[in-house]
Amino acid sequence: MASDQQRCILVTGGAGFIGSHVVRHFVRKYPHYRIINLDKLTYAGHLENLIDVQSAPNYSFVHGDICDLETLRALLREEKVDGIIHLAAESHVDRSIRDPFPFAHTNVIGTLNLLQAVRECWNGQWEGKRFHHVSTDEVYGALKPGETSFEETAPYSPHSPYSASKASSDHFVRAYHDTYGLPVVLTNSSNNYGPYQSPEKLIPLCIHNICENKPLPIYGKGENIRDWLHVQDHVQAIDEVFHRGRDGESYNIGGANEWKNIDVVKMLIRFVDEELGRPSGCSDGLITYITDRAGHDLRYAINAEKLHRELGWAPQHSFESGLRETVRWYLEHADWVQNVTGSAYERYYDEMYGNK
Ligand code: NAD
Ligand code: DAU
Repeated sequence: MASDQQRCILVTGGAGFIGSHVVRHFVRKYPHYRIINLDKLTYAGHLENLIDVQSAPNYSFVHGDICDLETLRALLREEKVDGIIHLAAESHVDRSIRDPFPFAHTNVIGTLNLLQAVRECWNGQWEGKRFHHVSTDEVYGALKPGETSFEETAPYSPHSPYSASKASSDHFVRAYHDTYGLPVVLTNSSNNYGPYQSPEKLIPLCIHNICENKPLPIYGKGENIRDWLHVQDHVQAIDEVFHRGRDGESYNIGGANEWKNIDVVKMLIRFVDEELGRPSGCSDGLITYITDRAGHDLRYAINAEKLHRELGWAPQHSFESGLRETVRWYLEHADWVQNVTGSAYERYYDEMYGNK
């Protein structure tokens, strides 16, 4: 699939964390593409994430819901969309534990709507078309002792309502490929970090709380392991797979960068205190161990060898420098943080952590 031709790409969830980086990357790198961002603007979607590209001539925003099939049908027909990069989702594991239904609704039914609308619109004319489904390593469940990392062939074994909904959406994407011939690719990424991530997630939550001298809530003993990937490395991988990935294939995306949660938090304390000119160790006492997350997967690690071998992708950011840059970004964007930690966030935070 050539990257020099004119195209119209619909990015769903483009006002969220990863989606906004995808939109910015495609708008800037491919000025001959039209990029349409379809987003419902839930609590996780913020148009200010895209302020620097909002007036670009090849960018437009549509306020809409992937669960609304008629909107999808009309949009695809009118805009002659020939590529989809599908990120819209409910994305936070803790919220899925509290209320799984929005996860089934958006992640499963929303994805099914999108597949059906695309299938009807493209109607067997698959040439030059592509549906790229953005998914997660959490569909594989937790690694068992002695297992090294997940390959694309690992069995699906989701544990949380979030990962169950993402696994289900992956199955529907493959079913549309195998049953109807829809040209799809899937990517399953490990934990992302970087600018514009909502402060409900571990890294931005801790940066925010260290600044405010608030407790840092660590689930269990802080020994769970995640494989951290800079969001821009993820976006570069999406670009490669969208343009050059093989039809019907899945590609794992990971940072080969495993850390225990407690060690990530200690590094954040060091970086934030250094940036704020505070004495070393003065925020260590903020670490607070709380009741573990239900069904908490102990360890994820991704084998991204296939993506490296077939498409030459490798992560470019080192964790230490990527994390330090991320800390600086949050400190320099206090307005953004303030806007996304308004009263709804405060309510969520109190309900989540208030009694622990
Ligand atoms: P996010 O929560 O920051 O953003 C989700 C976006 O989707 C928001 O802009 C929201 O408004 C929009 N959205 C939600 N429901 C919608 C609906 N019904 N219709 C239209 N838009 C809707 O999420 P994120 O962390 O940027 O994740 C994006 C995608 O990447 C998700 O599919 C997630 O499963 C996947 N993913 C995330 C990570 C990670 O570490 N964050 C890792 C692997 C995969
Ligand atoms: O692995 C990819 C997934 O990474 C994505 O699919 C999800 O959309 C994304 O949210 C992320 O899921 P996690 O649950 O791993 O991310 P989170 O930042 O919520 O948590 C990271 C780790 O930190 C996890 O082991 C739980 C722990 N944690 C998290 C929070 C919010 C805490 O110890 N305390 C906390 O308050």
